[in-house]
Amino acid sequence: MDMLPGQIHTIADAIDRHGWYTADDLLDPGLVGALADECLDMDTHAQLQPAHVGRGSKRRLAAALRGDRTRWLDESFSKVQADYLTHMLALRDALNRRLFLGLHTFEAHYAVYPPGAHYDRHRDRFRDDDARVLSTVLYLNRNWRPEHEGALRLHLPDGSQHNILPVSGRMALFLSADIEHEVLAPRRERMSLAGWFRRNGPPFF
Ligand code: OGA
Ligand code: MN
Repeated sequence: MDMLPGQIHTIADAIDRHGWYTADDLLDPGLVGALADECLDMDTHAQLQPAHVGRGSKRRLAAALRGDRTRWLDESFSKVQADYLTHMLALRDALNRRLFLGLHTFEAHYAVYPPGAHYDRHRDRFRDDDARVLSTVLYLNRNWRPEHEGALRLHLPDGSQHNILPVSGRMALFLSADIEHEVLAPRRERMSLAGWFRRNGPPFF
């Protein structure tokens, strides 16, 4: 990520003060478009699976909780995924130089929400896994308009709410442990690439 020092300072400062930030110009539009094409292609070829958290009978509960389909990035990553990872790891290093978050490994998945699907209010840190430190969501939706809805709604610790529309190239960043959030149901298919910087755990990337 060829970030200007001022840009990384702004991101680090916002995360430090408020716990979240959103930017529209962190990644090259060409890269964002290529990621969108890949996500759509993978979904067309049934390579995304209904998201679940838990096993057996608990799967039903997960389907009520979140209606997206996901696919984790793995070591077989494509050229565009490698470009995305290079940028995200550069962002990690830049943030680590300015904040004491101890960002270490990174994990990421594509997600597609069909029209009407949602993700209930939640935090990204789980009871059985507290390794996630910073959540990132890159949106991949060309020509997204307000009437398509599908915002990411942050519930901030002061009780206020902030809606972020999933327009192409926008990235939301927030502290995984602190910021509750939900995905409001979109009116058209909604694509994203969610990533988490972790302080420990399996060395994904
Ligand atoms: C998640 C999540 C938000 C979004 O995958 O945990 O909250 O806007 N995604 O897609
Ligand atoms: Mn989340």
